[in-house]
Amino acid sequence: MITNLKVLLTHAKEHKYAVGAFNVYNYETIKAVILAVKEKQQPAIIAFGEKYLANMELKEVVNLVRTMTTDLRTNIAIHLDHTKSIDVIREAINAGFTSVMYDGSELDYEENVKNTKFVVEMAHQAGVSVEAELGSLQLGTDTNEDDAEEIYTDPIQAKDFVERTGVDCLAVSIGTVHGLYKGEPKVSVERLIEIKEQIDIPFVLHGGSGTPLHIIERCIDNGITKINVNTEISYSVVQMISKLVQDKPNSHFSQLSVAAVDTAKNTVIKYMEMFQPNK
Ligand code: 13P
Repeated sequence: MITNLKVLLTHAKEHKYAVGAFNVYNYETIKAVILAVKEKQQPAIIAFGEKYLANMELKEVVNLVRTMTTDLRTNIAIHLDHTKSIDVIREAINAGFTSVMYDGSELDYEENVKNTKFVVEMAHQAGVSVEAELGSLQLGTDTNEDDAEEIYTDPIQAKDFVERTGVDCLAVSIGTVHGLYKGEPKVSVERLIEIKEQIDIPFVLHGGSGTPLHIIERCIDNGITKINVNTEISYSVVQMISKLVQDKPNSHFSQLSVAAVDTAKNTVIKYMEMFQPNK
């Protein structure tokens, strides 16, 4: 069933697991996530970012997901990842996305609060959930994201932000990176605990790729209910395709597409098992 983020994350919070938000931008990645959901019978979030509008239109994402999930009994959400444009958010709600992330992290704080509150009112009228982020993540390698400066989420500001905007979940910056880690990951679970002492809301961890299991487990223990994964899905597929093409330069595109779905699915399943270890 296609539902919103609030439904998915409330259940995850109660039962102490995290739902994977897997970035998609074409047929292969969407198919991979849905096959993984069907195989594991575990909820997931199909996440499409504004950045990928050159790859697919919003309505195409929704239609493709709907077509592929008519027989699905597990809950999924169609989520708009990192989006700075309120017009794109409005379009996504109209197209049938069930949750949106408004990313006002580059704005000054008061403007971010004002815009986020506006997005929350617009989205909630349509039964759509809203995620926002405070702070920003550093860049690792092989990422397609832009944020570069690491700013940890301030717990007191997070409390003020959540109370004034009414967001359904908050992405926190605690040391994970967008992309693959350059060295040992340094994630401050202590900062997450400080934020949790201030507010009782589902938390989101961006920069899931490459984050070790022991850190993920401690994050889930302390309120993380949604973990985003993008880079490793792309990385695993690109590595596989470059090897295939090297071995067989005149490979047919249709064969690469099938292999891409399979590789992306395996990467998604690897993370699903880390995020919901008892399944
Ligand atoms: P990674 O690319 O590091 O997995 O992060 C994904 C993400 O946070 C998307 O919003």
